[in-house]
Amino acid sequence: MGKTGFSLLLAMGLVTLSTSSEKKCILSGAWQNELGSNMTIFAVNKAGQFSGLYLTAVSAAKKPILVSPINGSQHIDSLEQPTFGFTVKWTFSDSTTVFVGQCFVDDHGEETLQTMWLLREKAKSAENNWNATMVGTNIFTRIKGQKVSESMRNDL
Ligand code: BTN
Repeated sequence: MGKTGFSLLLAMGLVTLSTSSEKKCILSGAWQNELGSNMTIFAVNKAGQFSGLYLTAVSAAKKPILVSPINGSQHIDSLEQPTFGFTVKWTFSDSTTVFVGQCFVDDHGEETLQTMWLLREKAKSAENNWNATMVGTNIFTRIKGQKVSESMRNDL
């Protein structure tokens, strides 16, 4: 193989490597959604499971908002744009929210978590079950730095 052919192969290899590493997404870190809610996801283990903390900016409950725990898991078979799900068990209300989503990485390496959620309120009786669940979407972007995580840990 000539010098040109070798250089071409090398360049192609480098492009492939950089493309695959850019797309990797680990959920660990601090995130904020378009409502201004913050969440911090701690280390993701080998099975893809994680815990974290959520500080919502809005609430349907008429009580002071408090930091609440997150439990979830993500696919780790391929770290390229994995799907995930997590639950937030609200500490200041009787409600529970489940989020499902996928982590996307754009050409500039910017990550977004595109999610849908179901917020379940506690119905007084089975007759009131019909309107006890809300549905919506949230898009999270990564907050650079870990300041949110530390302050949220102290609040719990
Ligand atoms: C409650 O109102 O009882 C608990 C707070 C719920 C906040 C919801 S969860 C879905 C949506 N996304 C947010 O960041 N906050 C709201």
